[in-house]
Amino acid sequence: MALLPIVTYPEKSLSIPSEKVEIIDDEVKQLIQDMGETMFHDSGIGLAAPQVGVNKRILVYDARAENPDDDGSKPTIAVLINPEIVQASGSYLSENEGCLSVVDFRADVKRYEQVTVRATDRDGNLLEFDAHGLMAVIMQHEIDHLDGVLFIDRISSLKRAMYRKKRMKQLKETVAS
Ligand code: NI
Repeated sequence: MALLPIVTYPEKSLSIPSEKVEIIDDEVKQLIQDMGETMFHDSGIGLAAPQVGVNKRILVYDARAENPDDDGSKPTIAVLINPEIVQASGSYLSENEGCLSVVDFRADVKRYEQVTVRATDRDGNLLEFDAHGLMAVIMQHEIDHLDGVLFIDRISSLKRAMYRKKRMKQLKETVAS
């Protein structure tokens, strides 16, 4: 087991599109396992490979998000390789959305209420499913990461500029101290 360091805004890997995974080899399988452990360790419900500095189209999420009413199950890593949203509908206000790579900031984000996701599982099988509500938000947020998009790119430019300023100040203070 290995916990991976999570990169934070404005790290470059977060703002560039990731490459498709062509072969699911041992390296990719190990990355998936480590991403899952890192996600649970940092109390996230989703994590995309660019967040650990790897620009590959892989995301993990907490499988319990599929059944929000079930609060008895153990943390289980779900993984999607080369996921894409093939259809989306409705609107949903994702309140107080946050990201392990965007420190000390949360905001309401307008999202689709429903998305249809097509992806490959860890064994290379194609799958397609519908996601609603929170699960649909996780899919949109994590797939955005694979395109180099953060949730702060989906809020007003004024709010984004305010966050950027705050973050730059914070980083400057970290370097100085
Ligand atoms: Ni995120």
